[in-house]
Amino acid sequence: MKRKSVIDIKEMKSKTPIVCLTAYTATIGRVLDEEADLLLVGDSLGMVLYDHENTLSVTLQQMINHSQAVVRSTSRACIVTDMPFGTYEESVDVAFKNAAKVMKETHCSAIKIEGGQNMFDTVKYLTGRGIPVMGHIGLQPQSVLVDGGYKIKGRNKFDWAKFIDDAKALEEAGAFSVVLEGMAEPLAAEITELVSIPTIGIGASSKCDGQILVTEDMVGLTDISPKFVKQYINIGELIKDAAVQYRKEVISREFPTKNHVYGMTPTIVKKEK
Ligand code: KIV
Repeated sequence: MKRKSVIDIKEMKSKTPIVCLTAYTATIGRVLDEEADLLLVGDSLGMVLYDHENTLSVTLQQMINHSQAVVRSTSRACIVTDMPFGTYEESVDVAFKNAAKVMKETHCSAIKIEGGQNMFDTVKYLTGRGIPVMGHIGLQPQSVLVDGGYKIKGRNKFDWAKFIDDAKALEEAGAFSVVLEGMAEPLAAEITELVSIPTIGIGASSKCDGQILVTEDMVGLTDISPKFVKQYINIGELIKDAAVQYRKEVISREFPTKNHVYGMTPTIVKKEK
């Protein structure tokens, strides 16, 4: 089966829910490739893998390194790479230069940027020059400092117009899909109705055209548990249990056993005449 393209993802709108997850490493990419239509190399890796307080310190080179690993380890999912803070906001030329570098060096299928109407020119410039773009509106983690925290959007209907216009602007600029993060459920459902491109929800609505979660949140490898995360398994606990047992066996010398060590090559003794 060939890798899903952004066109395949676009055509899934209103037909089949689009299954999306984050992947930052070859190990996780390999495991998720068959289950996800789209894998996002999200800049959330700054917090999840590198323990930063927010995503703002993630660099373009980090995104390229992780994206290369995910692309190499997968063959079916559409791979989207996040553009980190500070690499696309300054001008359309800077955005193109950095996005083209990501596309060339990683062979991913598309890039993602945060923003709506304010990113209209940038999205239009990139898509008009061969770079598929996924938008990201609602709660935008790269704006955490100006927003004063991670705040859910659109709880008040008077605020809805801005987010609806953001989604429409991205659609008009040529984005192939848009992430709706951290917004009131009815607003996310309304945006999904109003735009022709797929909406991918996270803390949004089951009516979105697809859903995305940070894989490490879903499998219990992070400490945070916001309301929108469903933890399907607690791998963190399983790893801890394994480490406790390993520690015990190393100290008691039960590990390694004969099965885990190497013997000598048998020597051939020649008979003397
Ligand atoms: O960086 C990320 O992982 C994201 C998803 C949460 C959508 O942007």
